[in-house]
Amino acid sequence: MASKEAIRVGVVGVGRGRSFMRSAQATGMALVAICDTWEERLKEVGQDLGVTTYTDYDAFLDHDLDAVVLANYFHEHAPFAVKALTAGKHVMSECAACHTLAEGVALTRAVERSGKIYMFAENYPYMAYNQEMRRLYQAGEVGEFKYGEGEYVHPDPADVKLGRSCGINHWRNWIPSTYYCTHSIAPVMYITDTRPVKVNGFVVPYDFDDPSETMTVRRHDTAGIIICRMDNGAVLKSLHGQLRGHGNYVRIHGNRGLMENCRHGDKQRLRLWREPWDKPKGTPVETVYTPDFPEHHERATRAGHGGGDFFTTYHFSEAIRTGEPPYLDVYRGVTMSITGILAWRSALDDSTPLDVPDFRDEAVRKQYEHDHWSPDPTREDKDRPGTSIVGDIAPTEEARVFAKEIWAGKGYNGD
Ligand SMILES: NC(=O)c1ccc[n+]([C@@H]2O[C@H](COP(=O)([O-])OP(=O)(O)OC[C@H]3O[C@@H](n4cnc5c(N)ncnc54)[C@H](O)[C@@H]3O)[C@@H](O)[C@H]2O)c1
Repeated sequence: MASKEAIRVGVVGVGRGRSFMRSAQATGMALVAICDTWEERLKEVGQDLGVTTYTDYDAFLDHDLDAVVLANYFHEHAPFAVKALTAGKHVMSECAACHTLAEGVALTRAVERSGKIYMFAENYPYMAYNQEMRRLYQAGEVGEFKYGEGEYVHPDPADVKLGRSCGINHWRNWIPSTYYCTHSIAPVMYITDTRPVKVNGFVVPYDFDDPSETMTVRRHDTAGIIICRMDNGAVLKSLHGQLRGHGNYVRIHGNRGLMENCRHGDKQRLRLWREPWDKPKGTPVETVYTPDFPEHHERATRAGHGGGDFFTTYHFSEAIRTGEPPYLDVYRGVTMSITGILAWRSALDDSTPLDVPDFRDEAVRKQYEHDHWSPDPTREDKDRPGTSIVGDIAPTEEARVFAKEIWAGKGYNGD
């Protein structure tokens, strides 16, 4: 593709998808079509942006497109990606990359077969403090990675949760608490260039004494905690879920120092610490500062999620132009997504350790190609695992009535 030519892109999903629609132009892409099954909202957004709209994904793929951005349901990305790649389109996919291990296998194979660019749209690594931590790590400022933490804690009141998940079987109402793990795992993988090889999953059980849970129709646990052994021997703790104490935090302990974003005051600040007896001569023990983005600072600061939304689209468009796979390629995307799946399997088995398979290797893929294990309540499967560690959770009548009221306000009148 000639470097000046605009990349014709289409976006699936008019919720989160709107942030990609907005950032397309800034990165040399031209938004030409959008797709969503929710017709009313689709029309509204389509008119607003002046682009062609589709309710049918196959018809959308027939549009003259170079690339597709997937912001449809969390657990349905892989089949959509495989279809787009097979149709000769580049793909950028929201989290998760896949919902089962078999889907992870199918997706990596489809990317290899197609020769097209696949990018996993994990935006959290691209926050300024995470990019700065990567720069410091690569420069050897904290030595070799030993222990790290990634946290994505996002509590909300019941009405806000319901407003984001219309329908009893909307994925946000049942997805097990370890699955939404990429916002917390990805920054640590990105900063340290490591990947999980073993996983133990834990959950904080559903809280029957918390109205922000009981006044919704959610059937999963309060939080997921994943402990990973990384491929360099380091240990990573990932925490995500709805505990009180909203925030995103990353902490990296190396064998020569520590770096993290600050937990109070301005959380965009980065703290670098070296022991007084260990530090290089002439450098401070502690440095706290608010880093700029290493590149494209002006454009990135105007984007959502601390600039992360600019960089995912930017790297996707650069990968298409150069033909070089992006850092967040299919292997890294699938690895962090299956870590959440395996953590749930581990949590249900008393947190037993499980291997995280490396799908760069076809011989390994072969062992998982039929692993369709999924807690999706809409799937017919007699071996289907549950969605909460406490067993089946039946939303109360009061919560169901409240849910219907909130959903009606969003224009959704189904169950
Ligand atoms: N990276 C981030 O910071 C971030 C933030 C929010 C959401 N997300 C991710 O974005 C995705 C979408 O989340 P959301 O918040 O917009 O909520 P959502 O999952 O409710 O929205 C998905 C949209 O896709 C549409 N859709 C579903 N099936 C479709 C189909 N077959 N064809 C066409 N359209 C279809 C739905 O009607 C809906 O508008 C999820 O995967 C979520 O994890 C990521």
